[in-house]
Amino acid sequence: MDDYICIVGGKPLKGAISVQGSKNAALPMMAASLLHRGISVLKECPRITDVFCMEQILQALGAVTWWEDHDLYMDCTNADKEEIPEIYTGRMRSSVILLGTMLARNKRGRLGYPGGCVIGKRPIDLHLYALEQLGAVIEKDQMIQGTAPSGLHGNEILFPKRSVGATQQALLASVLAKGETIIKNPAREPEILWLCRYLRTMGAKITGEGTDCIIIEGMEELGPGCMRVPPDRIVAGTYICAAAATRSEITLENVPEGELDAFLDVYCKMGGQYQGNSGKLIVNGQNIHCPIKLLETAVYPGFPTDLQSQVMAVLATVPGESLIREQIFEDRYKAAQELVQMGAHIRISGREARVQGGYPLYGRQVTARELRGGAALVIAALCAKGTTRISGYSFISRGYEHICEDLLGAGARISLGREA
Ligand code: UD1
Repeated sequence: MDDYICIVGGKPLKGAISVQGSKNAALPMMAASLLHRGISVLKECPRITDVFCMEQILQALGAVTWWEDHDLYMDCTNADKEEIPEIYTGRMRSSVILLGTMLARNKRGRLGYPGGCVIGKRPIDLHLYALEQLGAVIEKDQMIQGTAPSGLHGNEILFPKRSVGATQQALLASVLAKGETIIKNPAREPEILWLCRYLRTMGAKITGEGTDCIIIEGMEELGPGCMRVPPDRIVAGTYICAAAATRSEITLENVPEGELDAFLDVYCKMGGQYQGNSGKLIVNGQNIHCPIKLLETAVYPGFPTDLQSQVMAVLATVPGESLIREQIFEDRYKAAQELVQMGAHIRISGREARVQGGYPLYGRQVTARELRGGAALVIAALCAKGTTRISGYSFISRGYEHICEDLLGAGARISLGREA
């Protein structure tokens, strides 16, 4: 039985929202904590389903974990089990990065296939390629198995395309490999930088993250990790879209600095205004009125695919035609058909979405089918006429810790209900 969100739309937002810790930064840091046989801690870790799921996986491997408020402690002294069943890995995509950590720690690992949001094919060939370059032998049957009897060895890993997860996989496996690893054409997303910073708190030797080439000097062992999880850039962007769609002014606290440039560029093109300093951002969406000729998602520092659906919801409210081209995932328009039910005019053709904006949105019964698409429905509902009921809350709670409380605090008429 799932929960649903109920929103009575049409009320402008005001006040302040503090941005939670980043899901996509926390998950690989949790995986990295397995590389130390002792206690590591992540401060300000978001208490969201995906984090709980990764926590359960660490426990299944033998780790002992506990929370003190928002600080997550992970004692990985005895996390030496060699298998993660599919009941865990099937729940989330990033479970696959544990193969590299298990290989680095114990020279072997076996895990079920990864799951996660259905937004495209999401293959894992680049993950496996990286591990093979480091000397792992990979076998696939009902599960994925990796072995490296003489341990992993540093090598060159040249990615044919940039992948966030595969770059994390390569980093996690190589920090304990013998010798030097060079990762060419790595992803440059902020979450890669945060993972490198965290690994360095554990004593890892890594240089070059954020450039076209990362160099890792393998270590014999790593010490405990300790870091504050950075604020979530996608959650920050989502709330900016909520203010934009309702033509409101709100203040965001704990905003990631310098990580939202491509998004803010588009926001300003729509007519949005912002001013900010030292982690605070005042966003004013009262003058939003311009459609976007072409919005293309791209790898960082380009426009993030994880904010594409939310911006689509805003563009549905802006008179004129906008064109979105999704270049990262081939099936990321699931929210569009629900937005159409609410009165939006959106036509999907392959990787393109044409939004004819400015038609009024109406409260309807709609369904969240994946995380960020679910957030887009919340945004549309906030400015729709009447009451919207969004089922599929479990998708939204994978990444948003308290979306209802946050928006309620900013004046929205929003509540959480349980399906009968
Ligand atoms: C991560 C984020 C996700 C975000 C995405 C892109 C996490 C937990 N998830 O996902 O929120 O939307 O980055 O910014 O951090 N690919 C392959 N082979 C592979 C791996 C990926 O072809 O082995 C392809 C994918 O299908 C996709 C593209 O590469 O088309 C980018 O995917 P990737 O950067 O790996 O995304 P994730 O790490 O899955």
